[in-house]
Amino acid sequence: MSRLDAMRSTLEACRQSHLLQHIDGLSEIDQEVLLKRLESLPLESLPAMIEQLVLAAPVAGDGDLHPAPCVCIKPEQACGSVDLIDAEDLRVRGEAMLEAGRVAAFTVAGGQGTRLGWNGPKGTFPASPVSGKPLFRLFAEQILAAERRWGRTIRWYIMTSESNDSQTRAFFLDNRCFGLDRRQIMMFPQGMMPAFDMKTGKILLERPGVPVMSPDGHGGSFHALLASGAIDHMEGRGIEAISYFQVDNPLSPVLDPIFLGLHADKAHSSGEFTSKMVSKASPDEKVGVFAFINGCLGVVEYTDLSEAEARSTDESGRLRFAAGNIAMHIISTDFARRVATAGQDDLPWHRAVKKVSHIDHRTGEPMMPSEPNAIKLERFVFDAMGIAAKPAILEVDRAEQFAPIKNATGIDSAESSKQMQSDLYGDWLEQAGVQVPRRGDGHIDAAIEISPLTAMSASDLEGVDLPSKIAKGVSFAC
Ligand code: UD1
Repeated sequence: MSRLDAMRSTLEACRQSHLLQHIDGLSEIDQEVLLKRLESLPLESLPAMIEQLVLAAPVAGDGDLHPAPCVCIKPEQACGSVDLIDAEDLRVRGEAMLEAGRVAAFTVAGGQGTRLGWNGPKGTFPASPVSGKPLFRLFAEQILAAERRWGRTIRWYIMTSESNDSQTRAFFLDNRCFGLDRRQIMMFPQGMMPAFDMKTGKILLERPGVPVMSPDGHGGSFHALLASGAIDHMEGRGIEAISYFQVDNPLSPVLDPIFLGLHADKAHSSGEFTSKMVSKASPDEKVGVFAFINGCLGVVEYTDLSEAEARSTDESGRLRFAAGNIAMHIISTDFARRVATAGQDDLPWHRAVKKVSHIDHRTGEPMMPSEPNAIKLERFVFDAMGIAAKPAILEVDRAEQFAPIKNATGIDSAESSKQMQSDLYGDWLEQAGVQVPRRGDGHIDAAIEISPLTAMSASDLEGVDLPSKIAKGVSFAC
């Protein structure tokens, strides 16, 4: 049987024959592209996935929820069940891992960034408050600074997707990899999943012979790390821990010794999957929260937390579900390989209802729905917590680590992120004895930017030539 005939019968069994309906009108190259695309889909599990995730009504709620235990290093931090531990001990362990070259940086940058409305990969977005450095440059500068400090080449793995891979590569080349050696950076695209018609379960077509596809979620990073050879590449270089962070947060510490130290601390973590959290700013903040879900540690998305759960408090009046996920994890290479090879069913698929333009597969007519008509499926990286023997969660300071850029305006926008960056760097300058202007609400009344190459914390400013005062409304970068 030819490849095409084999695919025809497989698709018939999955009730997706329409995908090959236009094949005779396609060029040889396009026929091959379509076949490869279809062969990349999880065809065996497709009928069950459609049945359970596309056509079935979603089950309300996440089941039995309990607050997650967290580790914290500052006594003033308080979030639910907290275990206070010695940061210095963790720092020493983490620094030893960095000095031994056992850690790599890993950015997930495959998302579509639709909310931001930026025409290009999100990492190219100008994010810093004074010089408008793009997110990728800010991370590259952190890597350069870390290399200077720990005396090792630090490898940087970046997950892209089909829609932004070539643009991302071109951006790095145009910017000479921001001073890094291009051989220390490895980029690879993540997997893609089709969009399904929510009424019929049929895969939608963008045009004849081309299914509508989108990235398979950051949970796809396990498979992408394995399939691209990144895990082999890491292991061949003695890398044991992957420092995972999202592309959308300019304050994300690319390599954090304390966090790494917790991951390596057997008393708290099995050294497989370790996460960070900040205390939620309000019950309505749009972050997922760490929780035990039916006895298993994981993240409940804000959309899945009921109003009552989001607002519920403990005896001391604190939010019960306050451990906000800031999407920073340490994942051991062993564990990543184990999750990636575990098979299709290990990480669950999550459904998202979307409005997706497509063609009518019978007539070829373009369809622009005014209401949601489609289901997209994604996997989430944090679902792997449930597979780890003992995952740990570290509480960190929001002001130091979390200023995400997600929306074009308002909360979590470039504007709010730049203010938070100026607030943090203004604070560092103040600690170094510089007089900085503050508004009545306490925020810094100037645009301030400190490159990681100048300082990675307030104490690094010692010995740096600084002005005695920053005037109100000015821009200052060093
Ligand atoms: C995410 C988390 C949320 C957390 C918040 C913190 C999910 C489902 N939720 O929300 O719990 O509180 O961040 O900022 O992740 N990405 C890929 N490939 C994909 C999809 C996403 O690489 O297929 C990357 C994006 O490029 C981005 C990151 O993952 O760097 C986050 O994706 P996004 O969908 O924007 O998550 P949020 O809704 O912001």
